Amino acid sequence: MDRRPPGHPRPDHRAGRLNAVPALPRVRLDGYGEDDLDLERRLNEPEMRAFLSPSESDEKVVARHRKYLGLAVERVGQMFRITSLTTGDVVGSIGYWEREWQGETVYETGWGILPEFWGHGYASAAAVAVVAAAAARGTHLSIHAYPKIAHAASNAVCRKAGFTLLGECDFEYPKGTQIRCNDWSHPL
Ligand SMILES: CC(C)(COP(=O)(O)OP(=O)(O)OC[C@H]1O[C@@H](n2cnc3c(N)ncnc32)[C@H](O)[C@@H]1OP(=O)(O)O)[C@@H](O)C(=O)NCCC(=O)NCCS
Repeated sequence: MDRRPPGHPRPDHRAGRLNAVPALPRVRLDGYGEDDLDLERRLNEPEMRAFLSPSESDEKVVARHRKYLGLAVERVGQMFRITSLTTGDVVGSIGYWEREWQGETVYETGWGILPEFWGHGYASAAAVAVVAAAAARGTHLSIHAYPKIAHAASNAVCRKAGFTLLGECDFEYPKGTQIRCNDWSHPL
C-alpha cells in the first residue's frame, strides 16, 4: 500500500536515473589489432602528450603497440579502438590493465581522444564502456584512473563516467618520475 500523503506522488525513479546520467555519444570499443599502430602514432603527437610523457621515438611507439596487443593475449587487460557510432570515425583509444595498488590488484584505465574529436563527450562515453568491459571480465573488484590533478579534462571524464574521487596520491609516471594525481575509482 502507498503510504505517501496526498500531494506527494511516488517518485519517478526511472526519470531520476535518466537525469543522473549525462547524455553521451554512442561509441563502440573494438579490441586492438595490428592495424592500430597508426592510431598509436597519432596518439603520440605533441598535442596529445601535454599531460603525459613527451612524444616518444617511433621505436618506442611500436614497442608500446606490441605491449598493448600482449595484454589480451596474457589476459591481464585489453586496449580498444574507440569508434563513434554517429559518424563512423575512429576517435581514439582506451584500455584497462592490471596494477598493484595499495595491497591489491586492480584495473587501471587510460584514454586518448584525437584532437579533432575533443569536446564531444567521446572520452566520457568510452570510459563508461570500458568500465562495463572490465566488469565483464569478473576478475578484479575495482577500476582506477589516475589523472594529474591539473588535468581538468581527464578529471571531468572520470566524474562524468561515474567514478568516485578517493583523493590525491603520488604516482610513478613515466617510470622513475613521481607525479601528483587524483585517484578515481569505480566498482566492478
Ligand atoms: C582528456 C581527453 C581524453 C578528453 O577527451 P574528450 O572526448 O574531449 O572529453 P569529453 O568530451 O568526454 O569531455 C569530458 C569533460 O572534460 C571537459 N573538457 C574537455 N576538454 C577540456 C579542457 N581542455 N579543459 C577543461 N575541461 C575540458 C569537458 O567540458 C567535459 O566536461 P563537462 O561535460 O563537465 O563540460 C582528451 O583531451 C585527450 O585525449 N587528451 C590528450 C590525452 C590525455 O591527456 N589522456 C588522458 C591521460 S590521463
